[in-house]
Amino acid sequence: MNKQSRKTLIVGNWKEHENVSQASTLVARLHKLIAGHRDIEIVLAPNMLALQPVSLQIDRRRFRLASQNANAKDEGALTGEVSFAMLRGIVHYGIVGHSERRIYFNESLEDVRDKVAASIRNGIMPILCVGENSEDRSNGETRQVLHDQVISALSNLTAEEVTHVVIAYEPVWAISTFGGELAKPDDVQDCMKFIRNQVKELYGERAAEDIRILYGGSVDDHLAGGYLALDDCDGVLVGSASLNYHKFSGIVEAAYRNNRK
Ligand code: PGA
Repeated sequence: MNKQSRKTLIVGNWKEHENVSQASTLVARLHKLIAGHRDIEIVLAPNMLALQPVSLQIDRRRFRLASQNANAKDEGALTGEVSFAMLRGIVHYGIVGHSERRIYFNESLEDVRDKVAASIRNGIMPILCVGENSEDRSNGETRQVLHDQVISALSNLTAEEVTHVVIAYEPVWAISTFGGELAKPDDVQDCMKFIRNQVKELYGERAAEDIRILYGGSVDDHLAGGYLALDDCDGVLVGSASLNYHKFSGIVEAAYRNNRK
C-alpha cells in the first residue's frame, strides 16, 4: 500500500471557539462551500457541547466529527468528564494528546496512552498528536521526543489496532498558539518518515503502510499544498484556519488538487 491508497484526511480543530449557535452557522457555510470528494475525508472537531447538535446538522456523506478530548474511563464518579464510550455514534475520530492538553492540562504519556486505548476500545479512531517543543528542537532531541511519544501512546495496542490510529505530527513551536513559526516541508517530511519507520519497527510493514500521518501547525490555504505533497503526509490538522470557512475550503481544494497531480 502506498500514499495513494491512504485516504486524505483534513481535520478542523475548532478548539474552545464557536458556541452552539456559531458552530451551526459555520457548518451551514461549510456545507455551501465544500463539495464532497470521494478520496478526501473532512472532519470537524467542535467543542464537546456543540458535537451533538452539529452531528444532527451535518451531511454525513461529506463531513465527519472528532472530539477534541475525552476521558479514558468509560464511566465513573468523575465529575465533569465525558468518556469515549459516551461519544460512540457521534464521532468517528478523537483527537488525543494535543500539545495544548499536554502543556495546559498536564496530560502525561500514560494519560495519552490510556486515552488512545479507550478510543480504540470504543471504535473511535484516535488522532494522536505528537511533536517536539522548541527546547527539544534546539537540544537536538526531536527524534527522541517523537519516539517516546509515539511508542508510549501505541504500547497497549495490537498491530491491527495500530492501523486504525492516525498520527498528527505537530511541532509545538509551529502551532499558532505557541508562536506559529513555519516548519520547512523538508524537515516535516523527515519527521513523518521517522514516525512511519518507528511504527514499522514495532508493528511491521502493514501497520506502517496503513497508518495515516497528518501535519499540523499554522496550516492555511496557501501552505497546505506544500505539506500535502510530501511523501509521508496523508492530510492536515488545522487549528485557527479551520474557523475561517474560506480558508478551510481552500485547504480542502488544495488536497483535491494534490490528489490529482
Ligand atoms: P494552528 O493549530 O493551525 O492554529 O497552528 C493547529 C493545532 O493546534 O492542531
